[in-house]
Amino acid sequence: MTRRKLIAGNWKMNGDAAALAELDGIAAAAKAAPRVDVAIAVPATLIAPAHARVPGLSIGAEDIHAADKGAHTGCVSAAMVKEAGASFTIVGHSERRADQHETDADVRGKAEAARRNGIAAILCVGETLEQRDAGHAEAVVTAQIAGSLPEGAAADWLSIAYEPVWAIGTGRTPTVGDVAAMHGAIRAKLRALIGGEADKMRLLYGGSVTPDNATELLGASDVDGALVGGASLTAAKFVPIIEAAAKL
Ligand code: PGA
Repeated sequence: MTRRKLIAGNWKMNGDAAALAELDGIAAAAKAAPRVDVAIAVPATLIAPAHARVPGLSIGAEDIHAADKGAHTGCVSAAMVKEAGASFTIVGHSERRADQHETDADVRGKAEAARRNGIAAILCVGETLEQRDAGHAEAVVTAQIAGSLPEGAAADWLSIAYEPVWAIGTGRTPTVGDVAAMHGAIRAKLRALIGGEADKMRLLYGGSVTPDNATELLGASDVDGALVGGASLTAAKFVPIIEAAAKL
């Protein structure tokens, strides 16, 4: 089974109108790497201008609400981000699970809202350092998969991102062996839940991916791409990661 690599960026609460200039170089690199899918999730305020600036690049949201509309002050729906130009959304990022106390059920609801509205989703899972040190990493992550996998989970709209919480923004990464082992465990759990569709689904690694470690991490077995935070903020750092994926 060959799965196209997906290199996705996540700007988090960073970026402004001036930062959109970075997308020019990223869009050019994406065009030059037709075997790789490239996507960038940006703050909600930047989705429309980002899409207008680089219509050929897949722009996404960092989160959506599970409901399509209603009395949810401050939130945005899948339909809203889609209208603004988003073709996908991240759901269940560990920063939201921690800061906004999102549960697996919340995450599943958001992923289902994405599907209902015709946008793709990247569903994030990952253990804390405490959980890893206690030897519970695989149990925690596979339980998150079981709890947050949406109805209708299929590879044509859903990807999974394994992001160990302790590797995000820290400069620390798991060993390639640990990444491969966890991705294998996620794939096995997905097979148990959705059968052969699991072999088509892309599993991304996220957490301190940089131009220096991208080739090694992307080359690990069952790693089908990367979700990149800090290094997605500039073309100078993100483009080499796209190029590393294109060479694999
Ligand atoms: P990082 O973030 O690449 O800055 O570690 C990854 C993420 O949170 O998606």
